[in-house]
Amino acid sequence: MQKFTFHCPTEVIFGKDSENCTADLIKKYNGHNVLIVFGGGSIKRTGLLDKIITQLKEASLFVSTLGGVQPNPLVSFVNNGVKKALAQNIDFVLAIGGGSVIDTAKAIAHGLQYPTHDIWDIWTKKIKLEKTTPFGSIVTLAAAGSETSDSSVLTNEQTKQKRGLSTPFNRPRFAIMNPELTFTAPKVQKACGCADILMHTLERYFAKEQDNYMTDYIAEGLMKDVIFYAPKMLANPQDYLSHSEIMYCGSLSHNDITGLGRTKDFSVHKFGHELSAKFDATHGASLTTMWASWARYVYKHDIERFCHLGKVLFDISETGEDGAIKTINALEEFFYRLGLPICISQLTGKILDETELKYLTDMCTDNNSKAIGTFNPLNYEDVYTIFKMANH
Ligand code: NZQ
Ligand code: ZN
Repeated sequence: MQKFTFHCPTEVIFGKDSENCTADLIKKYNGHNVLIVFGGGSIKRTGLLDKIITQLKEASLFVSTLGGVQPNPLVSFVNNGVKKALAQNIDFVLAIGGGSVIDTAKAIAHGLQYPTHDIWDIWTKKIKLEKTTPFGSIVTLAAAGSETSDSSVLTNEQTKQKRGLSTPFNRPRFAIMNPELTFTAPKVQKACGCADILMHTLERYFAKEQDNYMTDYIAEGLMKDVIFYAPKMLANPQDYLSHSEIMYCGSLSHNDITGLGRTKDFSVHKFGHELSAKFDATHGASLTTMWASWARYVYKHDIERFCHLGKVLFDISETGEDGAIKTINALEEFFYRLGLPICISQLTGKILDETELKYLTDMCTDNNSKAIGTFNPLNYEDVYTIFKMANH
């Protein structure tokens, strides 16, 4: 094993009815005035919002609500949320939803501590984040892993940038995970979630460090589980076993445990964020659009590792280039079978022109000022070529 530091302090409460302890947990973390952040209304329709409000009020907590978070959440929404939370003396932020809602709640919790600043100043690191307000989440979609991750991703609608912020302050106090709460999510969101979960592990699996066998076994076990249970989950929206397996994978895949001792690569996420910022594409779909093109461009960097993955996930016995290519094809086919796009025209409905490709490349490389990724660092030309490879 290589050196690593691992500190994921989030208290995880997993299983049926786990949301029933929400009020107790908020009190445990000294919350009194609670802002519930939620999305476009799914938790109203399912009755979850009313259930939690009633529970918190019965526990004598002050409750305020802030709905309307949209997928690919916006900086302006966060700034308005901070103003509202300040006016109500909020001391605990509770997210109920998927990654977009949880990321918004994280940002509002940070913003409460920096009331005179635009939240984007923290994301662009003009201001160093050194404190936050306690926050927790009730997860309704297995996907982003934000419930235990150290990350939060926002989109600045003015600059058209989608950027993540990684900091220990992004780890929630608690994550409530009842797989039954994910049953109602749209099939396409569940599929995108499975892709995102795999990608969080893949983007750590392909790294320059060697000799991290325990980390590899965890990563491989997680990916096998997702590949086995994702089709079952999509085929049966009420199946507890598959939803629970995927939910656990979602959290594990992005709390860092699948990459200890390795440097994160996250090039495919970078490509995906630029596609999402420009076309408002769903996160998981933006990743499957780009993964195989990235892999075909970089596989020669470590053919053996691609072959090993193919053997573990799909029982591919070939070695050398044939094995690596077969592995890439098999994973691409898996994404396709989940109903997800595997090229740009399937994501955006069109083939991009030269100006659009150059724009995406500029955004990805901050106008040719930096390389992306670590497994095989990619410069401007590399990034442009990979976008072009996916542009069909
Ligand atoms: O808004 P509502 O009405 O709740 O509907 C949502 C939304 O339309 C719906 N949904 C979620 N749970 C549901 C449900 N509908 C019915 N029943 C339920 N149980 O699903 C839609 C998508 O929700 P969203 O939160 O956007 O999905 P996801 O969890 O995939 O989050 C995506 C966001 O997270 C970021 C992505 O970039 C994207 O902005 N990420 C955050 C990360 C992190 N913080 O660690 C890491 C990831 O790599 C990712 O970048
Ligand atoms: Zn992701």
